[in-house]
Amino acid sequence: MRIKHQNSWLLASLLLGLTACQSDDSGETDTATGSGQEQKSTAEVVDRHSYANSSEVELKHLDLDLTVDFEARQLKGSAQLAFDRLNPDADTLVLDTRDLTIEKVEAQKDNEWRATEFELAEADPVLGSKLTIRLPDGSERVRIHYETSPDASGLQWLEPSQTAGKKYPYMYSQSQAIHARSWLPIQDSPQVRVTYNANIRTPEHLLAVMSAYNEPDTELDGDYHFEMPQAIPSYLIAIGAGNLEFKAMSERTGVYAEPSVVAAAAYEFADTEAMMKTAERLFGPYHWGRYDLLILPPSFPFGGMENPRLSFITPTVIAGDRSLVNLIAHELAHSWSGNLVTNATWRDLWLNEGFTSYVENRIMEEVFSEERAVMEQALARQELVEEMETLEPRDTRLYLDLEGRDPDDAFSGVPYTKGQLLLMSLEERFGRETFDVFLRRYFDDHAFTSLTTEEFLAYLDKRLLEKHPGVVSEEEIKRWVYEAGLPEQAPDPQSPAFDKVTAERQAWIQGDKKAEQIPSRQWTVQEWLHFINGLPQDIGSERMAELDEAFGLTGSGNNEIAHAWMLLALRSGYDAIDERLESYLKNIGRRRLIVPLYEEMAKTGPGKARAQRIYREARPGYHYLARNTIDAVLK
Ligand code: BES
Ligand code: ZN
Repeated sequence: MRIKHQNSWLLASLLLGLTACQSDDSGETDTATGSGQEQKSTAEVVDRHSYANSSEVELKHLDLDLTVDFEARQLKGSAQLAFDRLNPDADTLVLDTRDLTIEKVEAQKDNEWRATEFELAEADPVLGSKLTIRLPDGSERVRIHYETSPDASGLQWLEPSQTAGKKYPYMYSQSQAIHARSWLPIQDSPQVRVTYNANIRTPEHLLAVMSAYNEPDTELDGDYHFEMPQAIPSYLIAIGAGNLEFKAMSERTGVYAEPSVVAAAAYEFADTEAMMKTAERLFGPYHWGRYDLLILPPSFPFGGMENPRLSFITPTVIAGDRSLVNLIAHELAHSWSGNLVTNATWRDLWLNEGFTSYVENRIMEEVFSEERAVMEQALARQELVEEMETLEPRDTRLYLDLEGRDPDDAFSGVPYTKGQLLLMSLEERFGRETFDVFLRRYFDDHAFTSLTTEEFLAYLDKRLLEKHPGVVSEEEIKRWVYEAGLPEQAPDPQSPAFDKVTAERQAWIQGDKKAEQIPSRQWTVQEWLHFINGLPQDIGSERMAELDEAFGLTGSGNNEIAHAWMLLALRSGYDAIDERLESYLKNIGRRRLIVPLYEEMAKTGPGKARAQRIYREARPGYHYLARNTIDAVLK
């Protein structure tokens, strides 16, 4: 039974009494909150993207035992689950699964394992299959023997040809938002946290890594053990395996990558330790021990994924000049916003991504410069404004409307940048010092818990708005959170460096200057992006050629610049990019860098035919999520 949030105070307190005595596994899983009222049980919040009965029986610990079978493209083995019975009469455990083959389920009682009944319901296209397991009286654990499907939505299996080294296969998981269930049976809701251990077997010469403690100089023997002592939500459980090498960047940071990539990656991301120190100074201790990076093949559909202790990172940001390392600041920032303090449901994603975008930018300001941080703010705002024009109004709210929808289908820059702008405006209005104290306390008070938007707003009210009356009203915040669009008073960061670029661009457009006369030698990647993004969309191929001749933009090795340039080229019919575009699309699978290009091509008949031709070849190399998106664009 699910209980509505508002009416459940009494019951929740009762349940809390129960959970409190059962979850004494570590002091860290306790809310260290000064006000008991902010504590809650998962019973209170409805997560429509999970079947789990976590308000009655809540998972606590996972033991995975899996073999990575590259030939069959399957994980095979077992998941053992320990749980708390919040309702002592509960006699079933309900889990989320998708496309899993369940061989058998056992329950443990009095140290003996016995088969127990289970029912795997028919699959829902968004949620997958509900798995209901019968819990014999007094049983404390279950063990599920299972295999994943070769098409598991949360796993990508790569042929050697799709890797940097071309000799060994590579596989990795991407669990957020609701794909963990496609590779392990779990209560797949961000409200439920588990600690985990895992035994993973791979072919002998390959290395497996997980979002857990990774031993930097582990023996390469195909048999690996992992322990994750901090309780994390299922979407942060992650695995990767391939021909990986480790290179340390500092005492507690390092990179895992294919041998031919590892040195470049370690150079590119050398500032990771400085970023950690900065974040700790601003937002409190880093709770996770080591922080390593796993560099994925270019087909990884995201820029990065904040898997705890081991962020997964696209190689498309290895530009050679550290120009795109805000991505690392972002994934690292999730160690506070997201991994430590988590959104309770996917409707509350902005609590993860908006806070993280804000923290990311604060790190960039400290480690690089205010100038760079402001440029990145301005680029993000510009991108948001443009994206919002293409979105339905309901998808421009911070508190998302996901009713009946797959969270993947409502993904946009809104929770990121609109959320960031809200926090920037709070910082501006209350002053940085006050806001920093609030934020740090927020992370401390909610460490290792999950929060709804409503709970955050109540906390904000009490800890910030009411303490400093007359600065920002509750109504104003509610408009930001629940209404569509960007409030008029949203911050509009002004970069003096960008103003200069704008002036140069104008002079060139008007014919007052030749391309060679633009003083661009010292321009950063951000300035180039500002230059390109502000060019007229119908600039025409002759003028594109002038720029290309002067600056070699088609040949840019920076993927962000290449993307912006090729997008403009498509819009203005400049076909000198054609070859570059094709090889780029066949090599890179990061959604943000390819989807806009396919969308642009799909706007005309011949363009669409061409896109379909390229896509036919590129598609097998893309991740499930990228395929889904582009299938819809080119259907
Ligand atoms: N957690 C996200 C990726 C994600 C979000 C996956 C929602 C699935 C569902 C990650 O931290 C992220 O935001 N990545 C961005 C980084 C960028 C904003 C610097 C990306 O991949 O582009
Ligand atoms: Zn993020």
